[in-house]
Amino acid sequence: MSSTKPSAPSSQTAEFWSGRFSEPVSEQVKIYTASVDFDQRLAFADIDGSLAHARMLTHVGVLTDADLRDIERGLAQIRDEIARGAFVWSVDLEDVHLNIEKRLTALVGDAGKRLHTGRSRNDQIATDIRLWLRDAIDHLHGQLQALREAFIDQAEKHADTVMPGFTHLQVAQPVTFGHHLMAYEAMFARDAERLRDTRRRVNRMPLGAAALAGTGYPIDREYAARLLGFEAVCPNSLDAVSDRDFAIEFSAAAALIMMHLSRLSEELVLWSSPRFGFVQIADRFCTGSSIMPQKKNPDVPELVRGKTGRVVGHLMGLITLMKSQPLAYNKDNQEDKEPLFDTVDTLAATLAIVIDLIANGLTAVPERMRAAALEGYATATDLADYLVRRGLPFRDAHEVVARAVREAETRNVTLEALPLDVLQQFSPLIKEDVYEVLTLEGSVASRNHTGGTAPEQVRKAVAVARGRIKSEKNGG
Ligand code: ARG
Repeated sequence: MSSTKPSAPSSQTAEFWSGRFSEPVSEQVKIYTASVDFDQRLAFADIDGSLAHARMLTHVGVLTDADLRDIERGLAQIRDEIARGAFVWSVDLEDVHLNIEKRLTALVGDAGKRLHTGRSRNDQIATDIRLWLRDAIDHLHGQLQALREAFIDQAEKHADTVMPGFTHLQVAQPVTFGHHLMAYEAMFARDAERLRDTRRRVNRMPLGAAALAGTGYPIDREYAARLLGFEAVCPNSLDAVSDRDFAIEFSAAAALIMMHLSRLSEELVLWSSPRFGFVQIADRFCTGSSIMPQKKNPDVPELVRGKTGRVVGHLMGLITLMKSQPLAYNKDNQEDKEPLFDTVDTLAATLAIVIDLIANGLTAVPERMRAAALEGYATATDLADYLVRRGLPFRDAHEVVARAVREAETRNVTLEALPLDVLQQFSPLIKEDVYEVLTLEGSVASRNHTGGTAPEQVRKAVAVARGRIKSEKNGG
């Protein structure tokens, strides 16, 4: 640790504000307050923002063309050094902004020192995060589309595969596996919609707000916004530098995606267990036990479920970070980055692996699904509906069917295995055609309306979903 005695400023950041201080920050404060270890990730966004700022300043006559050429040349070299891993990051220079600015000045001299005219690190960082997050959202949105396509392809394959549908995790009514898979497509389609909506509010530009109050230079914020592809400028300088609601909103959208992935994972864990045996997960997604040779554990879905807690935690962290901050910028906001980065990283890694699992690592076992549906008297409601169609009030029909189910249970057979004369003991309304509704296929085929489980509807839902993704890709 270096000396903390009042002495000539020794740390490198000190030169950015040495005029005001009689001693440099202590080593421990320097390390505590530095963010360069993590915010160097924003370097390319920072360079893009600086280029737009410099071009705007030149456009309004604050910088000369010669200054701009120097700045462009210097920043191009820095970008290249960073890309090659040759850039030397220094914790003495606190954050990504000062590291880059210092290097720029070393490379091009005075023009580098002019770059920060009419700007503050406060509007700079707020701009950087938004640029970075905008890219991250686009990547995640593409992943969600790939995941939805994986569900759609599987659903099409299994439009006719019958499985038990559950309520309370009890066999309830037969559904098609394709329909069940399309339920996830519907969830992830909403998630994608949420990301697109969030992106609109992320994509507004704080630059020009300067430290908090704006700047006396004749800046043209709309010009810079156009260069950076922002849809609009943040309309109030105090708000622009301080609020991180866009990051919180993104984290909420991310937490919902993880929540959906976690529900899926829970089902995969259940379905792949020998008790259910509805699906097989390819070995490359599973691990064995070091002590129990027979085990095959669904580690990937379990970890997805586990990592959901971490993303939800980041949402709580960010919202708590924001809630007590007076206007405008406070250093608290430096704490927004790690949770945000980890949210994006966790979500991107999770989506990548789940896309592969659903597209290439999941095999249905239709016989097991079918057997489970038959065991659970899943067509009992269909029998009740049959009686209602013949004039019996629903409550009475419910009672008749309950007795028929009890009889089947006593005989240890399925409902459709009960002979006609036995069924007729419960209601004379029952005729030979009852067996059409007692079969699993008859049951699912009858639910043939928009949003229903009939194979015909699954195929329609598949076509609609494909159309929606196509129009999203065409910017619709
Ligand atoms: N590292 C800071 C952050 O992440 C950048 C802005 C610093 N501004 C300041 N006034 N100290 O928020």
